[in-house]
Order: sequence, then C-alpha cells, then structure tokens
Amino acid sequence: MKLTVNGIPRELDCDPDMPLLWALRDLLQLRGTKYGCGKGLCGACTVHLDGKARRSCQVTVAEAGAAAVTTIEGLSADGTHPLQQAWREHNVPQCGYCQPGQLMAASALLTASPTASDDEIRSGMSGNLCRCGTYPRIHAAIKSAQGKVPLADQAGD
Ligand code: FES
Repeated sequence: MKLTVNGIPRELDCDPDMPLLWALRDLLQLRGTKYGCGKGLCGACTVHLDGKARRSCQVTVAEAGAAAVTTIEGLSADGTHPLQQAWREHNVPQCGYCQPGQLMAASALLTASPTASDDEIRSGMSGNLCRCGTYPRIHAAIKSAQGKVPLADQAGD
C-alpha cells in the first residue's frame, strides 16, 4: 500500500482495510496522532486528508489512497505554525492528550474559514472532545491565530 504522509511517499505492507490511525502510529511511528475512542466520536485521531480534517480511526489505508495525509508532525517543521504558537501563548494544553487532534481540527477550520465567527469556531470544533475542559483556551487561541495562517497552509499544507 502507498501513502503520502507529511509530503513523504511511504510504502506499507499492510491490509488495505487497516485504519489509517493504526498505520500512522504502529507502522510509521508517527505517534503524535492519538487513539481515543476508535469510533469516530472524540477527534483525538484527527489528521488532514488533502487539507480537510478527518478521523484517522475511520479511514482505511486504502481510502486514504492518493490523498496527501498530514499529521501533527507535519503541521509545521519546527512547531511554529501560528496555531501552535497561539496554543503556547494561551497555555492551552492540560493533560495534552487531545491537543494534536484539536490543532489539526483548528488548522483545517481556519483553512476553510479564515474569518470564522465565534459560533462557527464552536460548531467547527464541537467534535473534538477534551476531558480537561480546555475549550475556552482552545477558542481563545484560535481567535488569536486568525489571519496569521500562511497562505500555503491555508491551501492545505
Ligand atoms: Fe478516532 Fe476517537 S480515536 S475519533
């Protein structure tokens, strides 16, 4: 099976029906993407497929196919994506487990809707759960990053 992950073509010896999350974590050692529920309910496993947020536990390797897969490791080369900077400025993470998925969802949201309103941000992020309740800080960080996402990132990484 072939995948392109964070701009790098990869070949995997796996079942086509393997969840993308499994392939990323167990075969490619990209463990920033987290396993939460495995049922598409929590958002911890969010990655981008061609710039759009997808639950990697609900996408098979075959379905990912030729799409450009971006994980939290590929959001920026050095942790300086505007959202990553905003996350630090607002001290967003508590336990941290859900935060890679939150960041991937937020970056896809700002790509699709750079001037999203408060309601649109709440709605767009509503599928990403945080057991620590960092929602107000997540919201504030997204607001502060609006207008700072580079055009290349807005085009889908
Ligand atoms: Fe995929 Fe929860 S682990 S949505």
